[in-house]
Amino acid sequence: PLVSMKDMLNKARKEGYAVGQYNVNNLEFAQGILMATQEENAPVILGVSEGAARYMSGMKTVVKMIEGLIEDLGITVPVAIHLDHGSSYEKCVEAIEAGFTSVMIDASHGPFEDNIATTRKVVEYAHPKGVSVEAELGVVGGQEDDVVADGVIYADPEECRELVERTGIDCLAPALGSVHGPYKGEPNLGFKEMEEIGNQSDIPLVLHGGTGIPTHDIQKAISYGTAKINVNTENQIASSKAVRDTLNNDSEVYDPRKYFGPAREAVKATVQGKIKEFGTSNKA
Ligand code: G3H
Ligand code: ZN
Repeated sequence: PLVSMKDMLNKARKEGYAVGQYNVNNLEFAQGILMATQEENAPVILGVSEGAARYMSGMKTVVKMIEGLIEDLGITVPVAIHLDHGSSYEKCVEAIEAGFTSVMIDASHGPFEDNIATTRKVVEYAHPKGVSVEAELGVVGGQEDDVVADGVIYADPEECRELVERTGIDCLAPALGSVHGPYKGEPNLGFKEMEEIGNQSDIPLVLHGGTGIPTHDIQKAISYGTAKINVNTENQIASSKAVRDTLNNDSEVYDPRKYFGPAREAVKATVQGKIKEFGTSNKA
């Protein structure tokens, strides 16, 4: 069933595992992710960026596609449809009106007081409707759709404490050196800050840029209060490879099902691996 992230993340933080946010780019991604989570009996967050929603013709199409899949695939695990990196209050409202059960308001680029004000406004709109809210502080490096960063800015623990207290958000994404897209070398995550932020409250922390983070860092992050880990690029790489291999192996192929089918399988296998790594199996 469709639910918000609130209960699944609070439970994850308390019990010491993380729920994956896997980004949806098209039908095959949604299928692969949902098939994997059902097989693993794991809760799941389907992340949808504004760019991906545009690609799929709009937020309503996304919600109706996922609702249809939940029915047709017989999905019984908890599923959240989450706006990834919502760029404004208006975009968050649009997502909630379309049926999203969760939103991220990413007002981390502007001044701190503006971030607080915008995030608070989103919480006031979302919570009465049972929709959960994620907010961000600091800057995640790299690029994802419309979200482009020149460098990385580490979140300040004191600002994190204030943002959580003054907005009532359900989970917090403190940028601590993670990057959207592949890492150049090993990631250098700010675990000292993460521990400090995690100790300030019971709020579930979110780790963006989950692609390419080694397992020992994933485990450390979970131990410091990370309860949500976002993964997109890894599924994109795996599915592209499946399409490329299929077309390279047979120059006569023209039925899209013959190459998008393997892409779906690749997403499913990748997500299944992440679920095991994050400890989400059998937590539905
Ligand atoms: O918001 C989505 C993510 O942070 C995904 O990051 O593409 O590096 O896995 P990634
Ligand atoms: Zn992100």
